[in-house]
Amino acid sequence: MILDSSDQVTNFAADMVCEVINTRTQSSTPAVLGLATGGTPLGLYRELIRRCTRGDVSFQNVETFNLDEYVGVEPSSPQSYRYYMLENLFSHVDIDLARTHVPVTWNVDLEQSAVHFERKIEQAGGIELQILGIGSDAHIGFNEIGSSLGSRTRVKTLTQRTRDDNARYFDRADQVPRTALTMGIQTILESQSILLLATGEGKSRAIRNTIEGPITASVPASVLQLHPNVTLVIDQPASVELANRDYYLESERNRTGFSRSS
Ligand code: GLP
Repeated sequence: MILDSSDQVTNFAADMVCEVINTRTQSSTPAVLGLATGGTPLGLYRELIRRCTRGDVSFQNVETFNLDEYVGVEPSSPQSYRYYMLENLFSHVDIDLARTHVPVTWNVDLEQSAVHFERKIEQAGGIELQILGIGSDAHIGFNEIGSSLGSRTRVKTLTQRTRDDNARYFDRADQVPRTALTMGIQTILESQSILLLATGEGKSRAIRNTIEGPITASVPASVLQLHPNVTLVIDQPASVELANRDYYLESERNRTGFSRSS
């Protein structure tokens, strides 16, 4: 789905997330969301807070799993992804914090922590909707280029490019951690549905390689081509490098037309 602006991407994503949550409001089992960090989902989280404050959605019956966490950053540090989630979503909605899972990397055995995280996802019945951003080199979570397409939650070494991209969140570039604990590609693929968001021209090459290139470990997001239920939502700038852009726009127009008349 190619939308005109990042605001439209935000609203589309918020509608999808709220639909998943609202169909589960009366259920005895929670809606299970997979969450991403970074700049891309910030608008979505702001919109979810707005809708929750307005009473349009409640997080009381929601359980969440975040994709990844840095190694070597305390959870209370503003650079940690646990902190990011508290700041940008959890503290502002009616979610039970005990049901929010961010990989634990501080003062733990990382291998055991990874196994524990996978087990928690399994106990929750799997992830219903996984939200993904994408790195400029098409990594998802912290599954960097060369990641095994069958990987599960584990420690990954960050590439220099990813460290450079994320340096803006740290005081100094050399403070960006060298490793992170991340859901694996196979873990992500086991989600029932996936919502991949990308905005801005800086992501257009990654998006082209993800959907128009071959499935390869050199483009981790390309494995999403194998998943039966992925929704890709991008703004115009993120679409500029797509070779078949006009075709996608036309088929979207047709699909919307069909659904309206049916
Ligand atoms: C990090 C995160 C990814 C995220 C990516 C892009 O590497 N681990 O989950 O998708 O950054 O971030 P941004 O949305 O800021 O471009």
